[in-house]
Amino acid sequence: MAKFIVNGGNTLEGKVKINGAKNAALPILAAALLADSPSVLKDIPNLRDVSNLCEIIRGMGATVNRSGHSVEIDPSDLNTYETDKELAKKLRASYYILGVMLSKYGEARTALPGGCNIGNRPIDLHLKGFKALGAEVSLNHGIVEVKADKLVGDKIYLDYPSVGATINIMLAASLAEGKTVIENAAREPELVDLANFLTVMGAKIKGVGTDIIKIEGVNKLEGKEHRIIPDRIEAGTYMIAAALTKGDVFVKNVLTEHIKSLIAKLHEMGLEMVEDISGVRVKGNGKLDSVDVKTLPYPGFPTDLQSQMMVLLTQTEGTSIIKETVWENRFMHVDELKRMGADITIDGHSALIRESSLSGAEVTVTDLRAGAALVLAGLIGDGKSEVRKIHHVERGYEGIEKKLSSLGADIKRVK
Ligand code: UD1
Repeated sequence: MAKFIVNGGNTLEGKVKINGAKNAALPILAAALLADSPSVLKDIPNLRDVSNLCEIIRGMGATVNRSGHSVEIDPSDLNTYETDKELAKKLRASYYILGVMLSKYGEARTALPGGCNIGNRPIDLHLKGFKALGAEVSLNHGIVEVKADKLVGDKIYLDYPSVGATINIMLAASLAEGKTVIENAAREPELVDLANFLTVMGAKIKGVGTDIIKIEGVNKLEGKEHRIIPDRIEAGTYMIAAALTKGDVFVKNVLTEHIKSLIAKLHEMGLEMVEDISGVRVKGNGKLDSVDVKTLPYPGFPTDLQSQMMVLLTQTEGTSIIKETVWENRFMHVDELKRMGADITIDGHSALIRESSLSGAEVTVTDLRAGAALVLAGLIGDGKSEVRKIHHVERGYEGIEKKLSSLGADIKRVK
């Protein structure tokens, strides 16, 4: 199994280019199947989740051609509404196939994503949406099946503004009969990007980016060309890396309006940043102040930057508190950070972080963003760190070791 060897202590300097957003690319790849003709999607990151979803789509009969960061999808030869079970279990976003196939063919079947059971990674809100549109839903032995003679638009109130549920309902409603209204909808930029693509394909969607989305179903969608938005989480990770190493980094290809909550917190800490049209320059300048952070749905502070921010907060004066409100079990990186000397106490959904110096250690990645945090910790840890199980990191960061090396970090990927 591959691992990263990181020797801490180097300052990051230079430019780094951010890729297209994974969490926009995945639903947009699935949405291309709604059309009757080919789509060309640009700035699709080369990540394992993307390859797995492309494999699922190919397995369903569609043609998928990848070249660099472009993917062409021709759905003309789709021949099943069912996904490969083993592949579907590998990524959560495989459930977008449900909304797409239900919308297009009135039937879909897939394995529950991520091999997790419905108790701890629920998809109840997705299913509530499908049922409201007239679908019958069954869940047997880890397989979800949705069926409808006819999908008819309705009003759906989401108990929580779930990103996945909002996307899945939007996909399902796009070819349904009549009007669907999603109340308490998620507002994340990635679903706005999906809505923009659907609109270019011919869908009628209003209110995206607010908490009420209205979709008027259409009979047919056409394949189109679309460029994916930059990945705000990848951008935020490199911004935090620059701050951590007291570096001077221009993070290129960022829509800074998508990371206002991070920029606000970094300002509050005393970090110098200069935003321009193509990105943001981050300049580490001495000691930063501690801050409190609470993760929230967009436009609040993203849960996907929580673990990376925690590493930065070990380097600030005083004590900081992070409250995680989105995912119940997202402090798995803490034990590993403690092995590197971090002074962190968990109390329920909050973490208390005190200033501490980190030293290199052997650490194991438990999930994607936890892995990013451990790589960042390695950059400032005294001596050598070995970061294991990096396949989790590689689900979300294309060439992270190459990008960090080009900025001056001492990091190697070894088998
Ligand atoms: C997406 C992102 C993920 C990010 C998350 C929150 C993708 C592929 N992943 O995940 O990186 O951390 O948004 O910004 O885009 N929930 C329910 N019932 C449901 C669905 C969700 O209770 O049917 C709860 C979840 O348990 C969780 C919260 O809602 O506590 C947020 O989940 P959701 O917004 O759905 O996240 P994902 O779309 O899975």
